[in-house]
Amino acid sequence: MKKKIAVIGTGYVGLVTGVALSDIGHQVYCLDVDPNKIDKLNQGISPIYEPGLEDLIHKNMYADRLHFTTEHSMAFKDADAIYIAVGTPERADGSANLDFVQQVAKDIAANVSDRGAVVVTKSTVPVGTNKLVKHWITDALDRDVQIEVVSNPEFLREGSAVYDTYHGDRIVIGAETEAAADLIEAINKPFGVPVFRTDIESAEMIKYASNAFLAAKISFINEIGTICGKLGANIEDVAKGMGMDKRIGDKFLNAGIGYGGSCFPKDTKALVQIAGDVNHTFDLLESVINVNNKQQQIPVDIAQMVVRGGLAGKKVAMLGLAFKPNTDDMRESASIVLAQKLTELGANISAYDPIAIENAKRLLPETVHYAANTEEALQDADVAIIVTEWDEFKDLPLTVFEKQMKQPIVIDGRNCYPLSYVETANIDYHSIGRPSVI
Ligand code: UGA
Repeated sequence: MKKKIAVIGTGYVGLVTGVALSDIGHQVYCLDVDPNKIDKLNQGISPIYEPGLEDLIHKNMYADRLHFTTEHSMAFKDADAIYIAVGTPERADGSANLDFVQQVAKDIAANVSDRGAVVVTKSTVPVGTNKLVKHWITDALDRDVQIEVVSNPEFLREGSAVYDTYHGDRIVIGAETEAAADLIEAINKPFGVPVFRTDIESAEMIKYASNAFLAAKISFINEIGTICGKLGANIEDVAKGMGMDKRIGDKFLNAGIGYGGSCFPKDTKALVQIAGDVNHTFDLLESVINVNNKQQQIPVDIAQMVVRGGLAGKKVAMLGLAFKPNTDDMRESASIVLAQKLTELGANISAYDPIAIENAKRLLPETVHYAANTEEALQDADVAIIVTEWDEFKDLPLTVFEKQMKQPIVIDGRNCYPLSYVETANIDYHSIGRPSVI
């Protein structure tokens, strides 16, 4: 059943959604108000780095199923479904800013075909927003048009979004009517991913609760790691032993320097705010956030302890800047906090990341020097901090640290190397929740 679909917003969520929907055969019009983005996309250039995405863009543009436009009339004309995938940035108080969503609602009212459409929210929005969207659209409509709203949150991970689209654990559809849910289920059928149908509010909450729970898993294992570090236990074995219990599960138990990215930090804060709006203090989630903030500082604390004479005037190599591997996304990356702290302490930073450097330049202190490769970043450094677990770093022979650095002190924020391997090298090695090797 091929449908005409408009996807509003060509950010990470919108672009991946639009491309994937075209790949399973639908006619997709991706709309963005930014003409530069649309120009690039029309040349087949993806504005984000996501493995496999550009190939799918080319394939589906060539098949004439995927179109990019700034024109509302073109995108909305005869659309069966309109996907809202615009940003919901964080306000100063942690709540989600819905201005872009509200603007899209007005655009839909002005352009939707008379036969109506199902409006699907992909953006992560507070509970109650879909009903508000319906209200905004119907309020702005000057004609009698049938509008249905559906909450269909995304659960894609950056860096593996294309894979996740076809191998997701579930597609959540929250709808007011069976007919609207049927349409969205039918649209998604070719993905072959299990569908869970529920009411709109529950679907909206599933998204926040899932991200908050995953963030909680990370902060929990990081706290256990801190205790392990003090007691001589090894967090990797502890996590493995815990994860063998199917009720716990072995995923998201990697201790490190905390979670970053455009989702967990924003969504956890927003859920605290959502709870506050109904007079509930979400103590557990507030602790998850506090633990994460502390966790991001750990490499600086270790560096201050182990680098003789303090960090002022010392060369610190930062390996990895993106919030996780396989992305150039720098949003809420631990590297931002680390670079600021190190700079305040007078350190000279030499940073390297396989693809995030251009984005990093906009966010890190101006004094940071960007190296062309790992070896250059490490050259004569007094200490190295591994921030992102890129394969390129995991595959490094440890002799590189010995050869390049002034003092081979390595602080591994992502536990990239087995301790048995580190023991064969001549480096001072400190990681997260594992005994140091000196
Ligand atoms: C996350 C969720 O995993 C997706 O399901 C969700 O759709 C997405 O947010 C979103 O809301 O859009 P993402 O932010 O792309 O996806 O990245 P993750 O792979 O989940 O990693 C998030 C952060 O947690 C990274 O900084 C990562 O280094 C950290 N992490 C993850 C750990 O520190 N330990 C772990 O065990 C796992």
